[in-house]
Amino acid sequence: MHTYNKNTPIVVLTGAGISAESGLATFRDNDGLWENHRMEDVATPEAYARDPEMVHRFYNHRRQQLTEVQPNSAHVCLAKYMNNLPNSWLITQNVDDLHQRAGSERLLHMHGSLTLQRCTACDQVGAVAADLRTDSLCETCQSVGSVRPHIVWFGEMPLYMEQIYQLLEQCELFLSIGTSGAVYPAAGFAQIAAAAGAHTVELNLVPSDVSFAFAESHYGKATEIVPAYFKKLVAFTD
Ligand code: APR
Repeated sequence: MHTYNKNTPIVVLTGAGISAESGLATFRDNDGLWENHRMEDVATPEAYARDPEMVHRFYNHRRQQLTEVQPNSAHVCLAKYMNNLPNSWLITQNVDDLHQRAGSERLLHMHGSLTLQRCTACDQVGAVAADLRTDSLCETCQSVGSVRPHIVWFGEMPLYMEQIYQLLEQCELFLSIGTSGAVYPAAGFAQIAAAAGAHTVELNLVPSDVSFAFAESHYGKATEIVPAYFKKLVAFTD
């Protein structure tokens, strides 16, 4: 086990697998979201232009589910340990609000968030107050029908990328939790961190598509392997 100190720069990346045991479907597992919806129909700018009602229905339903689930012990563990490591950052591909609700600080939602909306007329980002519809009003510029989910769709640029690349270049430990490594740029983060000298660890149910890029790996359920890993990590942090 490498030894770290409280100020070691650490980057943690999470994917849908960390929220699976809270009851939220992942994308590519059996009965996942992409088994029941074509991503081309609900998660691209073209889909939104073609059928905004269908896209709003897809995200309104996923947003509604947030009221029915809770953060699990993996979310809580990350918040507890990382909030006491002042140079640690949590980057999530997830658009659920479970990391916030677990209390995580220094959190970057690189694919946006179900709880946020953006006006395509004035670019104002704000909290979603009710189901989004094609006649939703932007409170800022009073446009009607210009409010979309603040979610990064396929073909759009993920958020915070400049800050994320800086964090990857400076980190000494990079952990990836609950992601299949199927979607870039997140799937390339381990290689960037390793090239910058970081120790890289994959925590997942099964080896991801980029498991080759990790120096260390632990496989199992997030609620089991994440607390186990952080208990060991803290024991080696002076
Ligand atoms: N504990 C740990 N890992 C798990 C668990 C669990 N209980 N359940 C599933 N997993 C793992 C799966 O083995 C899989 O490798 O989580 C991963 C989920 O992979 P995906 O469904 O592909 O989700 P993700 O990696 O987050 O997808 C990345 O793709 O569709 C886009 O924008 C979307 O952010 C998403 C991105």
